[in-house]
Amino acid sequence: MNVLGIETSCDDTSAAVYNGKLLANVISTQLVHREFGGVVPELASRSHVRLILPVIRQALEQAGLNKSQLEGIAVTYGPGLAGSLLTGLSVAKGLSQSLNIKMIGINHLEGHIWANKLADEDLTPPFIVLIASGGHTQLVLVHEWGRYQVLGRTVDDAAGEAFDKVGKLLEVGYPGGPFIEKLAAEGDTAYIRFPRAKLKKGPYNFSFSGLKTAVLNHLRDIGQEGIKRHLNDIAACFQQAVIDVLIENTLNAALNERIRRICLGGGVAVNRALQNAFRIAAQKQKLNVSWPEAALCTDNGGMIARAGYYYLNQNQSSSLRLSPKPNLNL
Ligand code: KG4
Ligand code: ZN
Repeated sequence: MNVLGIETSCDDTSAAVYNGKLLANVISTQLVHREFGGVVPELASRSHVRLILPVIRQALEQAGLNKSQLEGIAVTYGPGLAGSLLTGLSVAKGLSQSLNIKMIGINHLEGHIWANKLADEDLTPPFIVLIASGGHTQLVLVHEWGRYQVLGRTVDDAAGEAFDKVGKLLEVGYPGGPFIEKLAAEGDTAYIRFPRAKLKKGPYNFSFSGLKTAVLNHLRDIGQEGIKRHLNDIAACFQQAVIDVLIENTLNAALNERIRRICLGGGVAVNRALQNAFRIAAQKQKLNVSWPEAALCTDNGGMIARAGYYYLNQNQSSSLRLSPKPNLNL
């Protein structure tokens, strides 16, 4: 079954084709938000409107298919920005009706889980997934496909959001993650110890707002000269604090739930220092950890197409009355 996947929940406009193999996965990241230091919802919707049809056309071209050969459509219907979701969903409905093929709405977070299946088709539940992106930080136990248990989530900022906010404080550019990773690679993690939040309520929950405040306070303490001198060290110590918390909660959850396999997803999972630390920590506990390639960690239509392929093949589909659900949970 040739399934078109459409993803427009945030600032990436993406379309992919999956039919047992990923034939195309075209991702257009909107650059317009950079000068604002964050995603501007209204600009995101307008960009999706402009980009979505060319991106779908390009995906079909790369897949070597024309649209009449599509047999199903998968589309993100939440969580995300209402206007952005609406764009993808409207296009999906239009195509579904005009081509007379089934459409299925996919939860964006479930998409990040399926990205791991795309990366390794042998992956079978149960396993634990850490989803860490700009909008979400969640620890999910996948009992079976379609049956998910959220073990923990952030109580304030998402991990990627923390990278972006600290990136802003350090004035390194947006989004902060990749810039901080680069700076941190030349920094000393022993320079200062930033706090690692431990929450009494919900042992696997995360909190990053205290860490951000600790960085802010330290920057105030050392002033412009100190910041200039220790930029790499501060980046390294901040990054290490995030990594430690993400790994500790994930490994504790895996050990307590007796799950041997850990997967990652979301933009933060692209971070090399995080990947290396995960590899070492998991090895020590004899756990397996894996993550998709970068283009499948960040938002993409491929993961949506993969999830949709599974459900459509089980004869599940959505009504054309489906509406965007900005606050959808797993
Ligand atoms: O999954 P994603 O592309 O979009 C969503 O937020 O859904 O994730 C983007 C987030 C941003 O917060 C960005 O700073 C972070 O992922 N990120 C990184 C890295 N690359 C992207 N964080 C840490 N290290 C990176 N190399
Ligand atoms: Zn995402």
